[in-house]
Amino acid sequence: MTMPLTEPGTVPPTLVKDPLWWRSAVIYQVYVRSFADSDGDGTGDLRGVRSRLGYLKELGVDALWFNPWYPSPLADGGYDVSDYRDIHPTFGTLEDAELLITEALELGIRTIIDIVPNHLSSEHPWFRAALAAGPGSPERGRFWFHPGKGPNGDEMPTSWISNFQGDTWTRTVNPDGTPGEWYLHLFTPEQPDLNWNHPDVRREHEDILRFWFDRGVAGVRIDSAGLLIKDPALPEVPAEVPPGGHPTEDRDEVHDVYRSWRRIADSYEGTRVLVGEVWVPDAQRFAAYLRPDEMHTAFNFDFMSRPWDAAELRASIDLMLAAHAPVGAPSTWVLSNHDVTRPVTRYGREDSSFAFARKRFGTPTDLDLGRRRARAAALLTAALPGSLYLYQGDELGLPEVELPREVLEDPMHFRSGGVDPGRDGCRVPLPWRGVAAPFGFSPEVPGGDGTVAAPWLPQPAEWAALTVQAQESDPASMLWLYRQALRIRRREGSLGDGTLTWLPSDPTALVFQRGDDVVNVTNLGTAPMALPDHDRILLSSTPLVGGMLPPDSTAWLHRPA
Ligand code: NOJ
Ligand code: MG
Repeated sequence: MTMPLTEPGTVPPTLVKDPLWWRSAVIYQVYVRSFADSDGDGTGDLRGVRSRLGYLKELGVDALWFNPWYPSPLADGGYDVSDYRDIHPTFGTLEDAELLITEALELGIRTIIDIVPNHLSSEHPWFRAALAAGPGSPERGRFWFHPGKGPNGDEMPTSWISNFQGDTWTRTVNPDGTPGEWYLHLFTPEQPDLNWNHPDVRREHEDILRFWFDRGVAGVRIDSAGLLIKDPALPEVPAEVPPGGHPTEDRDEVHDVYRSWRRIADSYEGTRVLVGEVWVPDAQRFAAYLRPDEMHTAFNFDFMSRPWDAAELRASIDLMLAAHAPVGAPSTWVLSNHDVTRPVTRYGREDSSFAFARKRFGTPTDLDLGRRRARAAALLTAALPGSLYLYQGDELGLPEVELPREVLEDPMHFRSGGVDPGRDGCRVPLPWRGVAAPFGFSPEVPGGDGTVAAPWLPQPAEWAALTVQAQESDPASMLWLYRQALRIRRREGSLGDGTLTWLPSDPTALVFQRGDDVVNVTNLGTAPMALPDHDRILLSSTPLVGGMLPPDSTAWLHRPA
């Protein structure tokens, strides 16, 4: 049974109240596969999420963003969608999703889903039909099929490099068994790119948006949002790329797509938001996606990519706030997600900046230092103006797990020739309670087939100290820090959306005021620092010592207005 919320008057009150919710929201990212398993198959599922909504409410989040939950062969963790209007059977059913959306709304929590428009699964009916129909067919027109170069057509049409390293073209076999055309995939061969010049592609995705908005989702996170449009002339990537001149990235025509999506979002009651995954290094071109008739917000990856260094972080904050100001959009603050190294680990490394190209096995890490800095960063980002993203498990201070090679699944690992550990280390199932794996991730009693499977990725034994249960009884835990921070952030009108004023400080500190009465002090130096004037300390990531803020710590101060 499906229950689209299309009838007037059926839209739940939470969805319509507070039209500017997205400007200050705290959005918790749920990687369904690893959040909570209800049926004992070792994989998280929607009933698992439903059973933990109380935990998310208590944490104090405003919305949930779900990574792709659709039917998928999981060649890239679900970013290879074979049906955009259903739920992966391992995760549950469409009805489970509808119940989850509704139950979360009853607790005042909105749902954002992940839309994957750049590519689909090679198992999607459109791609299967395209392969079967052969060269020159209308079915192939929805993709980028092309004859190869060279006398036998056995050279790729371009030498573009994949976002996952390696080739971007795969040769097909004709229905009669002879070598055929090539097709484009900016990621894996299991993720053929769609041709966004084709009207079917546009219509289909507009319809998918309506399908989910009708079911009460409050927004969509748009995967690989800058990549949709390709130069049909298929030129090589120039040595010096002029603005908008890359054959597959950030082309000007892509903005038309988001203008039409914005019109659809705006046609719904309640503010339904578009959140872009936009990896565009130029801050002005990035902000162009946030013009008033396009997306509402986009992930700010600049801050996340910088090292733990006061000058770097301050430069990033200034750069991103300045870029957002002219388009009137709030910035987002993101410390991590399902693609990058967990903050506790990253900040404990000599090079604490993030870049995909630098990930290696066996990088030395000081987890105590990393944890202290991750706590300071949690408060710092929660104090900055705009919305905040929190990736599941960061509220527990989970480190990146260096998994044994034989359990790795991520194509980024394999396509790097085994050099890059890939992204599985931040996707390990959450520890909920108890002293041994699966730490309450799966139920203790067997499910339908009489067994309880091990979690799909193994949890380290040390996670016994990091379970939700263990942290709930420890006021010094990361979980307490996040709960307190989100409660204060919600209560203090000066936090969330708004402006920021830097206060004079030593260059190794980040000291700024929000509104009339809240001051953030982050000490990135090596010595304890004195605090500016205040009448109360709202929260501190490390206990003060003799009234001084220790290194690698943040304090929130209240000062009389
Ligand atoms: C970005 C997603 O976050 C990542 O997980 C995925 O592999 C790529 N886009 C391709 O869809
Ligand atoms: Mg399950």
